[in-house]
Amino acid sequence: MTSTAQVSQSGAGTAHPDHLGHVIFIAAAAAMGGFLFGYDSSVINGAVEAIRDRYDIGSAALAQVIAIALIGCAVGAAAAGRIADRIGRIRCMQIAAVLFTISSVGSAMPFTLWDLAFWRVVGGFAIGMASVIGPAYIAEVAPPAYRGRLGSFQQAAIVVGIAVSQLVNWGLLNAAGGDQRGTLMGLEAWQVMLGVMVVPAVLYGLLSFAIPESPRFLISVGRHDRAREILAEVEGTGVDLDARVNEIELAMRSEEKSSFRDLLGGGFFFKPIVWIGIGLSVFQQFVGINVAFYYSSTLWQSVGVDPTDSFFYSFTTSIINIVGTVIAMIFVDRIGRKPLAIIGSVGMAVGLALEAWAFSHDLVDGKLPATQGWVALVAAHVFVLFFALSWGVVVWVMLGEMFPNRIRAAALGVAASAQWIANWAITASFPSLSDWNLSATYVIYTVFAALSIPFVLRFVKETKGKALEEMG
Ligand code: GLC
Repeated sequence: MTSTAQVSQSGAGTAHPDHLGHVIFIAAAAAMGGFLFGYDSSVINGAVEAIRDRYDIGSAALAQVIAIALIGCAVGAAAAGRIADRIGRIRCMQIAAVLFTISSVGSAMPFTLWDLAFWRVVGGFAIGMASVIGPAYIAEVAPPAYRGRLGSFQQAAIVVGIAVSQLVNWGLLNAAGGDQRGTLMGLEAWQVMLGVMVVPAVLYGLLSFAIPESPRFLISVGRHDRAREILAEVEGTGVDLDARVNEIELAMRSEEKSSFRDLLGGGFFFKPIVWIGIGLSVFQQFVGINVAFYYSSTLWQSVGVDPTDSFFYSFTTSIINIVGTVIAMIFVDRIGRKPLAIIGSVGMAVGLALEAWAFSHDLVDGKLPATQGWVALVAAHVFVLFFALSWGVVVWVMLGEMFPNRIRAAALGVAASAQWIANWAITASFPSLSDWNLSATYVIYTVFAALSIPFVLRFVKETKGKALEEMG
C-alpha cells in the first residue's frame, strides 16, 4: 500500500482550480446515469394506475411487475463491476445508455403486460449498471480534495431525476385532462412518461464519448501513456505525473487482477471491507427512504390531501431532498463522511420516531387528528432532509472510493446489488406491514436509523482527502 508521504509528494491531494472546470464537466457527464436512475425508478409510480387499468390486473400482480425491475437493478449492479473491469468504465456507460434507450422505447409501447415487465427488467439492468459505474468512475477521475463533492454529483443527479419524473408526471397528467390514459400525440399519457426517457438516455450515450477513460482502469490494462495524458487533464500540471502513475501502478502491482474471488475471504464469505459496503447499502435502504417516495400518497391522504393533488405535494418532498443534497455537497469534503452520516442518522431517527408516534393514533374518517397530522407531515420532511444531507450522498460517495483499486468495481457491484435487494425488500413489504401496523413499521425504520450510528462508529473508516491508493 502507498504511504501518505508518497501521495503528497506527487501532489495528488492538492487542489488544481485550473482543471476544476473540466473535471466538473466530466463528473457531471458521468452523473447523467444517476439522473436516469432517479427518473426511471420513480416514473413508474405515476404510471401504475393506467397500467392497472389497461391490462385489467389486480394490485398484487401489478406490484410484481413493478418490483421485478428492482431485481433487474440488482443483477445489473452485480454485472457492472465485472464488465467495467473487463472492457472499461466508458464502454460500461455506453452499454447502460443503449439499454436505457431501448427499454424506454419498449416500455412505452408494450404489446402485452409481459412485454412491459420484460422492458422494465432491461431498464432495471441499466439502472443497476449506472448505480455502479457513476460512483466508481467519478472517484477514479476526481482529485482527492474534491472527490466527495464531485462524487455527490451522482446523488444530486438521482434526486433531480426523481423530481423531474414527478414534474413530468404531473404536467402530462394535467395535459391529458387528469387521466393517465388520456392521449397526447397518439400515445396515452403514461406511455409518454416512460418514453421521454429516451432523451436523457441518448444524451448520456453521447456524453460518454466526450469524457476520458479512467486512468486507473488504463493503468490496470497497461496503457500508461494514455493514463498519464488523462491524469494531466484532470489533475493538472502541478502534479508529478510519473510519480502518480508509479503510485497507482505500485498499489495495483501488489494486487492481482480483479475477479470475484478477490472479494472473498476473511472467513465470512466476503472480505470485511465488502461487508462494510454491504452494511452501508442495507442501512441506507432499511431506514425506509423509498417508502417516503414510492408511497407518499399514504402520508398525504392521512393528513387530508386530495389524492389528485398528491403529485404536487410529493414534489415538495423532492425539493427538500434536493436542498438536503446541496447541504451535503457543501460539507462532505469539509467535515467528512462519517460525521455527516452520524448527524443524518440522529435526525432520521428523530423524524421516524415522531412519525411512529403520530401514526399510533387512530384515524378519524381516514385522517389523523389535526396535531398528529401536522407532526407526521413535518416529521416526514425532517426525515427526508436528514437522509438527503447524509446517507443519500455519503453512501454513494463512499462506495465509489472506499475499496482498494483492485476490487473497486467488483466490490461496489456487490454492495450496490445488496442495496437494490434491500430496496426491494423494504418497498415490497411496506403494503403488508402498513396494513398490519403503520406505527410499528416506522418503529422498525427508527431502530435501523439508530443502529446505523454504532455501525458507522465501529466499522466505517473516514475517506475524506485520502488518495484512492490508500484505501483498503
Ligand atoms: C439514494 C438511494 C435511493 C433513493 C434516493 C432518494 O440514491 O440509493 O434508493 O431513492 O437516495 O433520494
